[in-house]
Amino acid sequence: MYDYLKANDIYLGRSEELMKWIAPDSVALSFWSPPYFVGKDYEQNETYDSWQEMLKTVVQLHAQVLKPGGFMVINIADILAFKDENMPRIQGMNISNHKSPVTKDMVLQAKKKYPHYNRDQLASYLGCSEQTIDRRLNGNNIRGGKHQIQTRVKLVGASLESFAYECGLYLYDKRIWKKDPAWANSRLTTNTLKAVSETEDLYFFWKAGEYVINRSRLSEIEWKEWEYRQVWEIQSVRKNDDHEAKFPEELARRVIKLLSDPDDIVLDPFMGSGTTAVAASKEGRQYIGIEKEKKYVLLARENIKHSQIQASLFDTVKIENPHTATPLSAAVFQN
Ligand SMILES: C[S@@+](CC[C@H](N)C(=O)[O-])C[C@H]1O[C@@H](n2cnc3c(N)ncnc32)[C@H](O)[C@@H]1O
Repeated sequence: MYDYLKANDIYLGRSEELMKWIAPDSVALSFWSPPYFVGKDYEQNETYDSWQEMLKTVVQLHAQVLKPGGFMVINIADILAFKDENMPRIQGMNISNHKSPVTKDMVLQAKKKYPHYNRDQLASYLGCSEQTIDRRLNGNNIRGGKHQIQTRVKLVGASLESFAYECGLYLYDKRIWKKDPAWANSRLTTNTLKAVSETEDLYFFWKAGEYVINRSRLSEIEWKEWEYRQVWEIQSVRKNDDHEAKFPEELARRVIKLLSDPDDIVLDPFMGSGTTAVAASKEGRQYIGIEKEKKYVLLARENIKHSQIQASLFDTVKIENPHTATPLSAAVFQN
């Protein structure tokens, strides 16, 4: 007889290990956002390969814990500045920043006239710095540019899809979460032609088996406003002082309402601050959370407790004041 992880708790440890202790075929929905391999504190020890291996293991453990017909929904984004040693080290030439009037043509003409001049001599002939000569000729900044590792966009969805497909989980749907532009996180804005990040992906995987389509899970407005829509517009979390990569509760709420029923078990193997569990509990679902950092396990438990206290206060107010429930509850939470 195995002692499986019980529902309605957050467990401290790595999902690659702890997911083996979830009862087989017990989870109706797993919703999660893993590390994105973008240099956050909690992913410092990962290499690209160890990160991929970790994702593969966690995806594949879902084949045993999901109920037949259950869903695994992954929120992730492509890596927009993936460092690649093998890329040519050429830096964009930002001509709007040119302070010297010396142009590439002028340098080329000078070189033609005085082919034996080195960079230093060309610089004094044209009355500019050596760095300007180098920039005009090579598009590089000799103080760093061409010596830095260049970056490219790395797509992540394809590897998730193949990890899932190998173990019998099929990509059922894909949606876009449109958040607000992440100016603050972007060092790309002044010296690049790339866009600032403002979307993330939601991959819906399905484990073969009958799944439920229950029109009453959502209101008519919810079906129209977001269920039928491929793009979900939801503001990202502004306050990141307790955890640096939370997703909004509304994102979890939509996935949970659409793909599970009350009392179902909702899993999040990358629990972070507890957002999925909070949303699950508000929607009357059970939850299992796994998180490798102790401080986040404590934070998630605290957030769940706090939201449950709020919910019970709200219920008390409703029962005691059946006619004034809405205004009175609003007043309670403002205080
Ligand atoms: C992107 S954050 C998830 C944030 C969460 N959705 C929220 O709203 O707070 C990823 C979390 O996974 C945790 N983590 C990373 N690798 C893990 C692993 N192998 N097992 C369990 N947790 C892990 C990190 O510590 C981090 O808190």
